[in-house]
Amino acid sequence: MNLLITGGAGFAGSNFIRHIIKKYPNYKIINLDKLTYAGNLNNLKDIEGKPNYKFIKGDIADQRTVLKIFRNYQFDAVINYAAETHVDRSISDPEDFIKTDVLGTYNLLEGIKQFTISKYIQISTDEVFGSIKRGKFTEKSPFKPSSPYSASKASGDLLCYAYIKTYKLPIIVTHSCNFYGPYQYPEKLIPLFITNLLEDKKVPLYGDGKNVREWIYVLDHCNAIDFLLHKGMLGEIYNIGTGVEKQNLEITKIILDELGKNKKMIEFIKDRPAHDLRYSLDSNKLKKLGWETEYNFKEAMRETIRWYSKNEWWWKPLKSGEYLEYYKKQYLS
Ligand code: NAD
Ligand code: TYD
Repeated sequence: MNLLITGGAGFAGSNFIRHIIKKYPNYKIINLDKLTYAGNLNNLKDIEGKPNYKFIKGDIADQRTVLKIFRNYQFDAVINYAAETHVDRSISDPEDFIKTDVLGTYNLLEGIKQFTISKYIQISTDEVFGSIKRGKFTEKSPFKPSSPYSASKASGDLLCYAYIKTYKLPIIVTHSCNFYGPYQYPEKLIPLFITNLLEDKKVPLYGDGKNVREWIYVLDHCNAIDFLLHKGMLGEIYNIGTGVEKQNLEITKIILDELGKNKKMIEFIKDRPAHDLRYSLDSNKLKKLGWETEYNFKEAMRETIRWYSKNEWWWKPLKSGEYLEYYKKQYLS
């Protein structure tokens, strides 16, 4: 199978590429990534040089680049991981979110409209549904995004829905809960808190810390996308969740305990604007198709904390600003 994976130098995309290369050594992968601050070729050091893997630096918001790649390679499937992903950055500077998450998705959809592709998978988020106090969002719940990030993801997803209906294209849209695991940029809750504590710095908890997120280990998400790549029904929407819901304070306590740190390391700070209280997905549709999680939350969290503890080489430069210098030298021609 020939795969185009966009955003493969980011957290989830790089984990997925590693998963595919290991499990299907005869599949060929093109990784198209703009290498924004969140894209990092160190995430794929062990994959570089594999004969069935090729990296192309490029922007999905640039239609000429996208169409040229579709023209030059014949893909069986396209999986779109590329996005601007951090809610706080979307609040301070939304423009790139619109460019990548909306226009970028549109360009990929035009690619699959103009060239023959068997499957396109849109990697999206539960955040498009907004916040839910009680109960769970199903695939049919209306979109009520709260942040420029979730609004831009919702817009990309709506374009997918329209391209399914209007052009009968082979698209699958996925809404997933929050991922955690190795290679997550240390600006998101779990890697930020682990690495801050490893550096003996305090952890900034927004508001009262009672916001709830549903969590999936990144390798379970890889398994879900692998499952949908092979067994997902075209034109369908799937929620990907685990039922593991935790308040941010609970997550923080797990990390503090594992690293032997005191609660005094928590600093309660001003809340994020329009901070969604709770996300929760009904994932029965995917489970009925035969997908199930493999990893236990407690063990996967412990493994994640261990990974950051053992891989300072990976995250230290990202936090120190050294990476920006390295990145400029390596990738900005
Ligand atoms: P990430 O921020 O770690 O990585 C995003 C990647 O996309 C980076 O490699 C970046 O360089 C690349 N990229 C950004 N703009 C691009 C552009 N214009 N053209 C090409 N490449 C570009 O993100 P992640 O956490 O791995 O998330 C991957 C996907 O999963 C995103 O679509 C996100 O919305 C979705 N998602 C993430 C989570 C989560 O908890 N992280 C949960 C649900 C859904
Ligand atoms: P985050 O990892 O940014 O993911 P998302 O906002 O997409 O769910 O945040 C997860 C939760 O943690 C969210 O409720 C906001 C909170 N949070 C903090 O309390 N402090 C922080 O420094 C960060 C980054 C997040």
